[in-house]
Formats: sequence, C-alpha cells, structure tokens
Amino acid sequence: MIKLLLFFAALFSVPFILLRKTNKKSGEHLLAGNKFLFIAHRGASAHAPENTMEAFRLAKRFGADFIELDVHLTKDGHLIAMHDLTVDRTTDGTGRIRDLTLEEIKRLDAGSWFDESFKGAKVPTLEEIFQEFGTDVNYKIEIKHPDINVGIEAALLRMLETYRLMDAARKGKVIIQSFDEACLKKLHGVVPSIPLFLLIGKNDVDKYDLEEVKKFAVGVGPNYAAMDESFVRRARNLGLLVHPFTVNDAKTVLKLQSYGITGVITDNLELIAELANIE
Ligand code: G3P
Ligand code: CA
Repeated sequence: MIKLLLFFAALFSVPFILLRKTNKKSGEHLLAGNKFLFIAHRGASAHAPENTMEAFRLAKRFGADFIELDVHLTKDGHLIAMHDLTVDRTTDGTGRIRDLTLEEIKRLDAGSWFDESFKGAKVPTLEEIFQEFGTDVNYKIEIKHPDINVGIEAALLRMLETYRLMDAARKGKVIIQSFDEACLKKLHGVVPSIPLFLLIGKNDVDKYDLEEVKKFAVGVGPNYAAMDESFVRRARNLGLLVHPFTVNDAKTVLKLQSYGITGVITDNLELIAELANIE
C-alpha cells in the first residue's frame, strides 16, 4: 500500500518536474559533461517494479535524463529487460532466463512482488521498449553477463539499427554500459561511435587504469560507496564522465557533486525536484 501511495504521489508531482530545463532545447551534446544527469536505475524503481514498462513510463514522467535498463537473452534469443540471471526475485516464476523462452517469460507476473497494485505487469522486451519510447527518452542499456548471454552484443546492435537508434547513440542519447570490460572493448572495436560506460563494483575501484579505460569508454559508473574524491578527480581530468550508482538521497548527491561527478544513477527520481529546490 505504501508503494502504491508513493506511486500516486509521484504521478501528481510530475507536472512540476516536466517544467525542468533540459538540454533538448539548448542542443548541447548530452554527454558534454556540463549538464548533471539523472539516470533512472531500472526505471523509476523506487515507485514501480524495476525494469517494467510501468517503471520506464514513470521515469519519463519524472523527467529522468536517461532510463537505465538491464538486458539479457532468452533461450530463443530475445532481448528482455531484467536485472537478475533468474526470474525468481522479480516475477512469480522460477528459472534462469537463459533456459526460458520469451513465451514462457511473458506468462509471468513481474509486478506483484513489488506491490499487488502492479499485478499483471509483464517483462518487456527491448523491442517493446524501443517501440513505445523511440527517441522520446534516452537509454543507458546495461549488458548483463555477456559470458552467459552469448551473442548479446550483436543482438543489441541489431536492435539499435532496426529502431534507427544508432544516430541517437552517436548523439549521446543511447549509452551502453557493462561491468564486463572485454565486452565493452569488443563493442568499441565494432562501433566506436557508441558511448560506453565501464561499471565498477565496490571491490574494483582501484583495479582499473583509467587512462586505459578512456581508450574505449566515455565514462565510468562506480559504486558510490567505494569511490572517493580523488577517483572522481582523476577520471574527470582524463575527460571521463562519472555516474556513480545507486544514490538515493539528496545529501549524498550534493557531496558527490562537490567531488565533480557528472550524473547519478538513482532509484529515487523525487531527487530531481528535491535538488532543484535546493539549487
Ligand atoms: O547503472 C549501474 C547499476 O545498474 C549497476 O548495478 O546491479 O543495479 O545493474 P546493477
Ligand atoms: Ca543495471
């Protein structure tokens, strides 16, 4: 019930958020580094079930600069939005995505686990997401487990081409990210114009040579709790963007902004209005 109330509170606050200035009019490159970006982690996942159309629609209404989503391949080769390797946590089903067909996944309820009011929400395909939103939103697409989802890079590129989003990617409106460095290097070798972000887990902040990362990525997405100011300064001095995850409170965003981050990945898009009121 609390989640349902939050959902409606979010909907009613949207008109104010839509008044927020965006780069759409200014024509600046979204990834120029001079605009602070709010990235909706798995959609508006504090208010709706993650990686569902309901969460993505709400993220758009909140005025998120990017919708972040996770992609996997089904047994029959379809790209779907889901975070985990299995459907167990976020649906009423069980099993590995890799072992299930799209038809089997489409039978699942991806909403009730979050709140009964979302009962019947479906797991979306990437194609459905592109069909509904087209170029009306910007996408930060995370490739999950390319070692298990063999061929996922090529499938994603094909989908971007089919929906004419390659040009949007060149303009910084579609980003691909992954924790898998090899996957990103491979993508950069094939289509160097797509902006890539290397995700960095909490034990890996010191693992990477950022000068090397700069050769294939435009930015890094570190776990915010493991990163410090000197990491952000080093990355920014090299021209890398820094979008830490997952930051859900204004106080922490303000602290990280003082370090020089260029955006934040958040479940809580009420932060957009909250921070606009502070600034
Ligand atoms: O966007 C960064 C974040 O999504 C990475 O972590 O586990 O939520 O996909 P995870
Ligand atoms: Ca993700």
